[in-house]
Amino acid sequence: MLLKKPIKLLLEEQKTDGENKLSRTLGPYNLIALGIGAIVGAGIFSLTGIVASENAGPAVILSFILAGIACAFCALCYAEYASMIPVAGSAYTYTYATLGEFMAWIIGWDLVLEYALASATVAVSWSSYALKLLAQFHIHLPPSLTSSPFDPVKLADGTTLNGGIINLPAVFIVVLLSLVLAKGTKESATINNLLVILKISVIILFIALGWSFINTDNYTPFIPENTGEFGHFGWSGIVRGAAVVFFGFIGFDAVSTAAQEARNPQKDMPIGIIGSLVVATILYVAFSYVMTGLVSYTAFKGDASPAATAFAVTGLHFLNSALIVAILAGYTSVILVMLMGQSRVFYSMSKDGLLPEFFSNIHPRFKTPWKSNLFFLVFVSILAGLVPISDLGHMVSIGTLFAFSLVALGIIILRRTNPEIPRSFRVPFVPLVPLLGIGVCVCLMVGLPIESWERLFIWMALGIAFYFLYGKKNSKLRKLQEITSSVSENK
Ligand code: ALA
Repeated sequence: MLLKKPIKLLLEEQKTDGENKLSRTLGPYNLIALGIGAIVGAGIFSLTGIVASENAGPAVILSFILAGIACAFCALCYAEYASMIPVAGSAYTYTYATLGEFMAWIIGWDLVLEYALASATVAVSWSSYALKLLAQFHIHLPPSLTSSPFDPVKLADGTTLNGGIINLPAVFIVVLLSLVLAKGTKESATINNLLVILKISVIILFIALGWSFINTDNYTPFIPENTGEFGHFGWSGIVRGAAVVFFGFIGFDAVSTAAQEARNPQKDMPIGIIGSLVVATILYVAFSYVMTGLVSYTAFKGDASPAATAFAVTGLHFLNSALIVAILAGYTSVILVMLMGQSRVFYSMSKDGLLPEFFSNIHPRFKTPWKSNLFFLVFVSILAGLVPISDLGHMVSIGTLFAFSLVALGIIILRRTNPEIPRSFRVPFVPLVPLLGIGVCVCLMVGLPIESWERLFIWMALGIAFYFLYGKKNSKLRKLQEITSSVSENK
């Protein structure tokens, strides 16, 4: 179970994959756009208001800075890895090379919580904004077709249904984007670029137009006094707020899943990972500064669309429609890149024999892992259409934090075990920076509700059972090692 995949073998494999190979089509701008595509979504548009009203007041800006710094420690580690092992699979592949097969399996399985669950969660939010947009054109879908069977539905006459049948718009967006991904990486990247341009333009428009309407009185008190309870305002509120807005930064690591599709991965992967994180952090800080300057943070309490509430004071009503379009574009790109990341992680696991070959089957013409895309089309559609997603945001965070911690740990290990491997990007001050990364991730994990921990353990127990029933028996590395040792015994 501690079998480690030699880095030289990893690098050789992707050169000799023959027809079953992903195509290298992505340049540095595509990679930064991929990162921004995955990062900027629900975090900025809804969490800003929640954290300002419940935890930090206008100091939500500090929560964003804190979470951004915390992510930067881990992003630097991802960048070093991606420049050293430019192979699809991200944290899974890195862990296979450092901590061995079993931990790699755990991480690969865990990443389903990040990528597939984040896609489903964001698809459900997408659905609610799509309905708002349709309502502006007087189009109304039956409520039973826009809610999961487990979510109560409010009807127009004020009565409540126990549950809907299916969240059809959420399923629609997952199906559509999975098909786009199956069609081609280049096409998906082009669509992602357009979505990123759209959402970033609207965010910049908001910042620029909102700036002149800021009432500086709204920044006083900047850090509202703690209510006596940990996490409710004061400095502890800023820290709790950082743990919540962390969700908004998830996604920069998805860039590293595309390493095998980058034209010049050694140079461009660090640019993609760190560049997208820096751009997102600047946007978040500026956006939350304007939002909390437009209205008092108390106005966001219980508000499902805080950004709309803030910008209503500008009197620029066209901004409301623009906001919905930006949110839809933002959420669409998050789902697109997360679904892409998911299929690339399973591609790598399948190539190693830990998952069935089905997941690494590359379409002869489209050069995409299309069967994997179709599998996740079904899996994520079921989640998005039928499962109530309210708690899943926490699951996404805990799964991601776990992966980040192991990646940072791996950097410290690899610097000792394989100092000779060329790295075009190096994390400064090792082991301090990775240790800070691990420390922050563990603190944020501890702050998450106990139910997320229970669900993490259940998911992991399922994964471990699968590993022993399938992965361990079919591992290609294990088979290779058995052959090598029987040959040397026979000599
Ligand atoms: N970072 C992504 C978002 O905020 C998951 O939606």
